[in-house]
Amino acid sequence: MTERSRVQGRRAARALLGASATWLAVTALPAQAAADELTLYTTREPALIQPLISAFSAQSNIKVNTVFVKDGLLERVKAESARSPADVLMTVDIGNLMDLVDGGVTQPVKSAALESAIPANLRGADGQWFSLSLRARVLYADKSQPLTSFRYEDLANPKYKGKVCIRAGQHPYNTALVAALIAHDGEAKAEQWLRGVKANLARKATGGDRDVARDILGGICDVGLANSYYVGQMKSAKEGTDARKWGDAIKVVRPTFANAKSGGTHVNISGAAVAKNAPQRANAVKLLEFLVSEPAQSLYAQANYEYPVRKGVALDPIIGQAIGELKVDPLPLTEIAKYRKQASALVDKVGFDQ
Ligand SMILES: [Fe+2]
Repeated sequence: MTERSRVQGRRAARALLGASATWLAVTALPAQAAADELTLYTTREPALIQPLISAFSAQSNIKVNTVFVKDGLLERVKAESARSPADVLMTVDIGNLMDLVDGGVTQPVKSAALESAIPANLRGADGQWFSLSLRARVLYADKSQPLTSFRYEDLANPKYKGKVCIRAGQHPYNTALVAALIAHDGEAKAEQWLRGVKANLARKATGGDRDVARDILGGICDVGLANSYYVGQMKSAKEGTDARKWGDAIKVVRPTFANAKSGGTHVNISGAAVAKNAPQRANAVKLLEFLVSEPAQSLYAQANYEYPVRKGVALDPIIGQAIGELKVDPLPLTEIAKYRKQASALVDKVGFDQ
């Protein structure tokens, strides 16, 4: 046998083996199909979570039927009731997650993998919901500002009169922060803070988080609050684009609360829960456990410049350099979320968005 024919023979044998393996897999499918899939309802952009879902399927052989639900996730699952195919419910913002729990469409999960990966303040005490990634509410500041530390309370200091930019107070990113201020200092102090920040506004509280950086570059304001992942999005944008110019115009400081002993920064989350009527409960738990595993957590960091919820996972280099390691406010998110309706009412009371 020549070297060439030996190689050809090996190739043929491999092709044959491959074919019979495929045939086996196909004939084995009908009995296993139901057990090897799950249905994910998500409000997150499909492009953002697809790499995570693909990695999960490759590792577990569990097929994920992803249903992108832009609005009305709770209403949909409620309406589907016991017939709902949803196994995992995924969304952003603690308020949205608590709505799912309060709406009765989640179920408790006990998992050592989830409990060891996710700090206790970032999950429901009864396993009704779990954080999967974090976004910090940080300070964007003009580079000329001599700031190395900042407290959220400082934003109400009259020295920033006419120098503050921020999006609407009624946006969930801001009502969650106001709820945290109420949880830390009480309603009266939070109201005083809102009035102080309102008096310092350089422009109406409107627009998006990136507009804070845009308006710092435009000389309209010196400081403002916005989410951490936008820093990564802007600083990684193509050279010469507006987004890149905005990102390059700011420095970022991780604020803390004045009275909190541990000095943590306010975070919001992306998270998930197992649906109350999950037909594939065991697979649903497997997906959640995968999402907090090390490889999945570093995908979160890369895909959207979010902070991993699991300790010891490398940050995206742009976030690491521009913002740095995060020390999270230790107050339980469930405690903060209790005050979100009160926070929203306060925003209206002081006419913050008027
Ligand atoms: Fe956002």
